[in-house]
Amino acid sequence: MKVTMIGAGYVGLVSGVCFADFGHDVVCLDKDESKIDALMQGRIPIFEPGLDHLVASNVQSGRLSFTTDLVSAVADSDAIFIAVGTPSRRGDGHADLSYVYAAAREIAVNLKGFTVIVTKSTVPVGTGDEVERIIRETNPDADFAVVSNPEFLREGAAIEDFKRPDRIVIGLADDDARARDVMTEVYRPLYLNQAPLVFTSRRTSELIKYAGNAFLAMKITFINEMADLCEKVDANVQDVARGIGLDGRIGGKFLHAGPGYGGSCFPKDTLALVKTAQDFDSPVRLVETTVAINDNRKRAMGRKVIAAAGGDVRGRKVAVLGLTFKPNTDDMRDSPAITVVQTLQDAGAHVVGYDPEGMENAKKLMDGLDFAKDPYEAAAEADVLVIVTEWNEFRALDFRRLKAVMKAPVLVDLRNIYRPDEVAKHGFAYASVGRPQ
Ligand code: UDX
Repeated sequence: MKVTMIGAGYVGLVSGVCFADFGHDVVCLDKDESKIDALMQGRIPIFEPGLDHLVASNVQSGRLSFTTDLVSAVADSDAIFIAVGTPSRRGDGHADLSYVYAAAREIAVNLKGFTVIVTKSTVPVGTGDEVERIIRETNPDADFAVVSNPEFLREGAAIEDFKRPDRIVIGLADDDARARDVMTEVYRPLYLNQAPLVFTSRRTSELIKYAGNAFLAMKITFINEMADLCEKVDANVQDVARGIGLDGRIGGKFLHAGPGYGGSCFPKDTLALVKTAQDFDSPVRLVETTVAINDNRKRAMGRKVIAAAGGDVRGRKVAVLGLTFKPNTDDMRDSPAITVVQTLQDAGAHVVGYDPEGMENAKKLMDGLDFAKDPYEAAAEADVLVIVTEWNEFRALDFRRLKAVMKAPVLVDLRNIYRPDEVAKHGFAYASVGRPQ
């Protein structure tokens, strides 16, 4: 199959290289010349474990190439995936679809032969209909089908998620056998590996993506509220999570209490779903509440640090370990660390941060934050040390060394990566999330 990926961002790049690895001929297209130049020279613009090797081997085998030239990339394609950004629109929280529609217009004039156009970007219900309308209006003679095929890739585990998906969701018209055949062929290796293919209508498929992300965001928010309650009643949220998660109807995943969810998907997608539901006069109140609780939580975590430091951080030094929204990524988008640090700075603290991969991106976003080269430099002379993101390298900190360099041995662990007794053994005051102190 000849596959074109429009947009060499996170989703486009991971999907493109995995399709190439399945044996298809893939062209990844992006308007950003510097990004395409970098990719052509073997430099990967994002941090994702395993991506560099997979790109290199597929480029070498001739199955994967990069271009900024849409005309050559689109002609002769069997399937064209639109994987451009759909950020929150400034002001109203709706998904901004201008990049999706611009891509549709540009594709339309260059189509040759039957082509399946697939929206992989996360788009609100009805976007596929509009993409179809735009293409038909721009090129009335085009022979094409518009299909929805949302992605469910977690950053940091994206290649694994792509190659071993829980399911593949494909939305198309019931009677569109040609599009169905192309999509089945594109995913053939997974299909042969028994990955469930869920065929449904285009609108349903678009909604599945939002419903899935909103449900997961709700699950995290639920356990975060349970954690707050645990702190009040002297119970342990990790045992609550295990105790309820072993019930197959609930499931144990996404029940880690923490500083609130962040990232490029949950915050923006929950908000977009809330807006769509309001537009259709069918509000999703559980999701509305989830959004509000999660927003408040990030500041509350800043206040938790202040309380652990004795109630006042004015003129004191706070060291923050982990700035990205989760480990194994350099992505800072909507990271809880941004709000936690801001809250501490607003209270007069001098904050020093360290992150294994996220510091370059953090520098662009976080004013007044100083950066250290490792956890111990960050902790030097600090009154309190805070773990915001659970990178593996923070799981085995040298407590003796920390205690020697810190002004006061106080640890706030917002990801529960330590056991209270082991931290206490080293003479640290310790606060975590939803566990008996
Ligand atoms: C998510 C979805 O998982 C993926 O299917 C979708 O396509 C894109 O959005 P991602 O944003 O990469 O993926 O990260 P994910 O691992 O889902 O974590 C999201 C946020 O929730 C992170 O801030 C993480 O720290 C937080 N989280 C996750 C928790 O606080 N507790 C949990 O139990 C799980």
